[in-house]
Amino acid sequence: MTRVVYLNDNFVKENEACLSPNDRGFIFADGVYEVTKYYKGKAFRMNDHIERLKRSLNEIGIHFEGIDKLESISAELLKRNKLADEDAGVYWQITRGVHQRVHHFPKDIQPTLYAFAQALPSATEKLQKGIKTILREDIRWQRCDIKSISLLPNTMLYNETVEKGAGECILIRDGFVTEATHSSLIAVKNGILITRPLSNLILPGITRKVVMELGATHQIPVEERLFSKEELLDMDEVFICGTGSEIMPVVQIEDHSIGDGVPGQLTRNIQQLFTELTR
Ligand SMILES: Cc1ncc(COP(=O)(O)O)c(C=O)c1O
Repeated sequence: MTRVVYLNDNFVKENEACLSPNDRGFIFADGVYEVTKYYKGKAFRMNDHIERLKRSLNEIGIHFEGIDKLESISAELLKRNKLADEDAGVYWQITRGVHQRVHHFPKDIQPTLYAFAQALPSATEKLQKGIKTILREDIRWQRCDIKSISLLPNTMLYNETVEKGAGECILIRDGFVTEATHSSLIAVKNGILITRPLSNLILPGITRKVVMELGATHQIPVEERLFSKEELLDMDEVFICGTGSEIMPVVQIEDHSIGDGVPGQLTRNIQQLFTELTR
């Protein structure tokens, strides 16, 4: 079955979707995106995704007037692709629009909206066993708080991760952990959840926020602070989290086992609480 996607006011077959090569998304990666997960047709944290998208758009000065349509477009995409009762991800991308190539932001151009839906089942086995990770210098730009489609550093690092047979790449900037190539990072030491404070250097992850809320409601202490690479390796438990990754235990970082080399108890508890929220 050919997938139906949404491009600029139209639902079209994926192989019939057309876009100008002068779209600034294509020329400059001048755009932002979001991925929302639907659990059996029900969106998880839709408002948070909408609010983060608005913020990303605002930070780069794209005036997009179709925010209110995103939910109904997404529902229609799920329906047309027979995903309305599945676990699925919906991707939205908004670029500045089409214009001859100039470096400044052209006035009065129409942003391009591209959206698609795809099956996004939970990675059940990995969620149980945990993943190995690699550790690299965070070579991204200084505005990682914007969910930009310009992801070459992330894809280069993740490609190396896959080539090494690992599941994610944890990033270090100036000696301190930031996050991972497409997920947030949370560690556990002495029963405390520890994660880096929000700043321009990490994405304000929605799953990270959910975990912090779970901590608050279930009397699990949470500390937002910087921690070094050395501290990371000495944590009792580590997990990454994200819309696609969910709550994914990290059992190995490079050659170093975390805890006993199996998912830790607090990570398991958070996984359980997260499942109760999403299912
Ligand atoms: C760099 C980065 N950090 C964190 C996350 C997790 O964010 P969320 O929980 O909102 O999916 C993502 C998700 O795509 C990401 O790309």
